[in-house]
Amino acid sequence: MMIWHVRGGIPLRGTIPVQGSKNAVLPILAASILAPCETTLTGVPNLRDVGITLRILRHLGCAAEMNDHVMYIDSRPLSRCDIPHSLMRELRSSVIFLGAILCRCGEARLSLPGGCELGPRPVDLHLDALRALGADVTEQGGDIIAKGGHLTGTRILLPFPSVGATENAMLAACAAKGETTILGAAREPEIVDLQRYLRRLGADLTGAGTAEITVRGFHPKAHAAHQILPDRIAAATLLCAAAASGGEISLTNANPSHFLTVLDSLSEAGCDIITRSDTVSLHAPRRLTAPRPIVTRPYPGFPTDAQPPLMAACLKAKGTTVFTENIFQNRYRHAAELRRLGAEVSIEGRVAYITGVERLTAAPLTAGDLRGGAAMIVAALSAEGETEIFDEDHISRGYDRLDQQLNALGAEVRCTY
Ligand code: UD1
Repeated sequence: MMIWHVRGGIPLRGTIPVQGSKNAVLPILAASILAPCETTLTGVPNLRDVGITLRILRHLGCAAEMNDHVMYIDSRPLSRCDIPHSLMRELRSSVIFLGAILCRCGEARLSLPGGCELGPRPVDLHLDALRALGADVTEQGGDIIAKGGHLTGTRILLPFPSVGATENAMLAACAAKGETTILGAAREPEIVDLQRYLRRLGADLTGAGTAEITVRGFHPKAHAAHQILPDRIAAATLLCAAAASGGEISLTNANPSHFLTVLDSLSEAGCDIITRSDTVSLHAPRRLTAPRPIVTRPYPGFPTDAQPPLMAACLKAKGTTVFTENIFQNRYRHAAELRRLGAEVSIEGRVAYITGVERLTAAPLTAGDLRGGAAMIVAALSAEGETEIFDEDHISRGYDRLDQQLNALGAEVRCTY
């Protein structure tokens, strides 16, 4: 158990670079096995989820090493097409290996990822996409077995723009004969980054970033090198932390065009924001004002992952902030913990109402999930006294040494075990 000790009341100041994107690197790591080849990735964040994915790659027989944010993967020795439950259960995005292994081996056996702390997370859209390509997909004793030595290009219509299902369909379609069109695809920047990597690997595909992605074929290369895009959720979290603490920070290695909705809300809350192509600066007022209602939606809508940190930033904002969470059923678990600091948060189904209070005071909190945990750190930065956050390694799943990042901005955050 990790305990975060966060001293509140210090406005964040300074400039730091944004880490590489967790949600971009994980599918790219799965994609690295599509064909026997060597991949070098730069800008890889040092995260628990990345470490687990390395273990999955090694389990499959690949060589995988990470050194100072550079990762080298040699997928030529891949020798297995299964992932055991012990690894699958650690990481939900491991389900993206289904399309990747199917493409490489013609069959895949993975233990079914269960629900998670955010509520049920079905994979029906992933499986339907593989079936549309001609794979025979069955479930047996908690395992998904996909067989499909001869996949055929087709039209895949996603009824909801699921990020994971879009990624699985893109990877499996690389093995298909003929052209595949994915309609209703997710448009997240991480999908665009996956397309960039796949093209370096030799795939012929276009359309990522729009609702229609076309995969025409795959002529594998022996080497691929790729720089992981900056993490828009980590950037949003740092900006929320600066806003909550009344600070003034700049982020480099950022791509502000990827989180415009978050910037809009922070600006409505009274922050001065200046963006350039790869930097963003935020100057917060002494007290924020409640921004207009926030509704989470698929990209380019407001990201569900930024909802908890923004909520934490609004706890002391003048007026009432209203959030509607449309992506996950159980994404307000941090609310009960934030109340322990003195926040006024009430939840009615998908809607959360935050009435700004004058002060928050330190209390022991428990992180129940990754972004909820980050929200607790953001809130603690604006609370009086030292807040302790008990965290079973949720936060390190998605943030690369968040304590060091915040301390570089003048915060006082310590981690003990
Ligand atoms: C989601 C987010 C993504 C974020 C990631 C990590 C959206 C649209 N997606 O991606 O931005 O980076 O979490 O927190 O905001 N669903 C099904 N059947 C499926 C797959 C999904 O019903 O087969 C439903 C889910 O229950 C959920 C919604 O679709 O309500 C979003 O799922 P999806 O985009 O697939 O989730 P992730 O890929 O995890």
